[in-house]
Amino acid sequence: MTAVKYELIKVCKQSGARLGRVHTPHGVIETPAFMPVGTQATVKTMSPEELKTMDAHIILSNTYHLFLRPGHDIIGRAGGLHKFMNWDRPILTDSGGFQVFSLSDMRKITEEGVQFRSHLNGDKLFLSPEKAMEIQNALGSDIMMAFDECPPYPAEYDYVKKSLERTTRWAERCLNSHARPHDQGLFAIVQGGMHKDLRIQSAKDLTSMDFPGYAIGGLSVGEPKHLMYDVLDYTVPELPAGKPRYLMGVGSPDALIEGSIRGVDMFDCVLPTRIARNGTTMTSQGRLVVRNAKYAEDFGPLDPECSCYTCQNYSRAYIRHLLKADETFGIRLTTYHNLHFLLQLMRDVRQAIMEDRLLDFRDDFFTKYGLFDN
Ligand code: GUN
Ligand code: ZN
Repeated sequence: MTAVKYELIKVCKQSGARLGRVHTPHGVIETPAFMPVGTQATVKTMSPEELKTMDAHIILSNTYHLFLRPGHDIIGRAGGLHKFMNWDRPILTDSGGFQVFSLSDMRKITEEGVQFRSHLNGDKLFLSPEKAMEIQNALGSDIMMAFDECPPYPAEYDYVKKSLERTTRWAERCLNSHARPHDQGLFAIVQGGMHKDLRIQSAKDLTSMDFPGYAIGGLSVGEPKHLMYDVLDYTVPELPAGKPRYLMGVGSPDALIEGSIRGVDMFDCVLPTRIARNGTTMTSQGRLVVRNAKYAEDFGPLDPECSCYTCQNYSRAYIRHLLKADETFGIRLTTYHNLHFLLQLMRDVRQAIMEDRLLDFRDDFFTKYGLFDN
């Protein structure tokens, strides 16, 4: 009666990365996978049909935003989030435990939950493990996240320890108030900052409870990348091999490859969609700011190696013109390309795992792409 199941297909002999499938009520996710972010029940400027054309298997949405607007009661009455937004593939919802800390005002954390003011209208609101579950149960996402606290970086050891212990108690409360375990999988979130013993403590405590998947949170919060990779090096081995592992909020090309090498199966990030809106694109030769004057008469595609709709049909000069003229279509074209680029990168990663050559793939990729300083 588990809604979400992991199937391991093979381990890369060269790198240790995992090729697998996550089975959900709305279909299969091939892993390692990148999940485009659709915070407000839409991946900004993309239709579900376009997301399917680029072969996104799953998208992510946010409890915090949908609770504030339009409200989970309305989405519940619409028949759930899939129906509301016309997306029939898997959806993962974050619990609000991160957005409440990064977006809202006047937060007050207690054992019971978090009191805060809406960043939209200042309303006084409350989220708790039970409330985050009630909302996600109404949304009907395939994968729900436990309500957690993501401590800032840097943070005092003693604070991080108290925080992760509360996050573990909150995870247990989430499990106990989950109304739909037959068709929604609940993932727990490992915290513990940059401290090895705390990460291991968090992982051990959470894996002693039976969640269908585990996330690693509290990373990509401003720490140097080598610290994030250290945390993965000692945290991932604590997680059960038979369940999916999800690295939250990470999506730069280098981190997707490094995370896969360390045994991560799922990733999400606003990076491709966010940078697309100010005219920055990811290409096989590295970052390209198509708004720059030097592309005014460049009639070639964003990325000569890309097979996406944007690159097959439009030039750098045209896209630059649209962006300069504030035409929405320009943003749609860069968004489509960036998402396609990361989804293609993950297809290439999966192929490289299949052929036991992910370390070679990483070296070739970095030689061409350079390091993505983000
Ligand atoms: N997104 C990125 N990091 C985190 C985290 O630590 N917790 C949650 N809930 N979401 C995240
Ligand atoms: Zn392209």
